[in-house]
Amino acid sequence: MARPKIALIGAGQIGGTLAHLAAMKELGDVVLFDIADGIPQGKALDIAESGPSEGFDAAMSGTTDYADIAGADVVIVTAGVPRKPGMSRDDLLGINLKVMKSVGEGIRDNAPDAFVICITNPLDAMVWALQQFSGLPANKVVGMAGVLDSARFRHFLAEEFDVSMRDVTAFVLGGHGDTMVPSVRYSTVGGIPLPDLVDMGWTTQEKLDAIVQRTRDGGAEIVGLLKTGSAYYAPATSAIEMATAYLKDQKRVLPCAAYCDGEFGLKGMYVGVPTVIGANGIEKVVNITLSKEEQEMFDKSVAAVQGLVDACKGIDPSLA
Ligand code: APR
Repeated sequence: MARPKIALIGAGQIGGTLAHLAAMKELGDVVLFDIADGIPQGKALDIAESGPSEGFDAAMSGTTDYADIAGADVVIVTAGVPRKPGMSRDDLLGINLKVMKSVGEGIRDNAPDAFVICITNPLDAMVWALQQFSGLPANKVVGMAGVLDSARFRHFLAEEFDVSMRDVTAFVLGGHGDTMVPSVRYSTVGGIPLPDLVDMGWTTQEKLDAIVQRTRDGGAEIVGLLKTGSAYYAPATSAIEMATAYLKDQKRVLPCAAYCDGEFGLKGMYVGVPTVIGANGIEKVVNITLSKEEQEMFDKSVAAVQGLVDACKGIDPSLA
């Protein structure tokens, strides 16, 4: 059986890391696409030359021609401009919306059967626009944010409790922005919910509140440290986890920016929710019940995403 084909649209910091991870994990053959001629070819060759030492069997290639992504099983989109210090994800809207149009059309014309994972920010609005521009079924177009935000939350919790991060489950709901909703009630250490751990004296409510806020600011914290770009190791790893769930039909329960069609009371909107990812893409949106307080935070986050989507419609009337 032929190896799966993985197309990476955008060969920058995240794109290059995605290619390296996909090769090391032998997820399939990788095609790196970028508009900056030389970058995708150079990164593909560099990674291919790591193959003999690492011992992986995966073909690497770089291109500036969409025809080369033909027949891709998975497409991961990082094309666009990343955040600079002081720039919010939302400032990126106008620039990256135009990028989504060209990428969406490239996918529509060359890889219409792919499972498409969008990483470009502002995430919830960009994945919505990408689905609109590509015309692919909504269950095959998904945004990567919740896995990353949850991983950050899990990392901070594991440090606080001094336990293995493998035993910390957590998830984050809502838009991938300052209004995201790290779910305290549904996050656990070895199955014990966080509020119980506060009662048990493992941590204090104040410390937990600080961790929730640090999770919300997780992207900005890295931007502030790097100064010349945004995070790329953890974002790439998160998208690879989602791609693996699809390619291996793992039925993983992962929080993603998914198309809601009635779930959570939303109609025709992408926002971060728990999902099941398997061979049919987003196979299910897990429609959990929210407490009054969670619902209020979620509504605020949804309103922020809706504002971005409305702004997209204002910029490009074909989306209205
Ligand atoms: N088509 C294809 N590639 C494009 C296009 C386009 N229209 N426009 C820009 N690119 C490419 C750039 O040439 C660059 O190589 O996208 C790549 C982006 O890479 P980086 O600038 O290194 O950004 P990165 O850190 O990888 O982040 C990409 O993910 O997390 C988000 O906010 C982040 O939106 C940003 C994206």
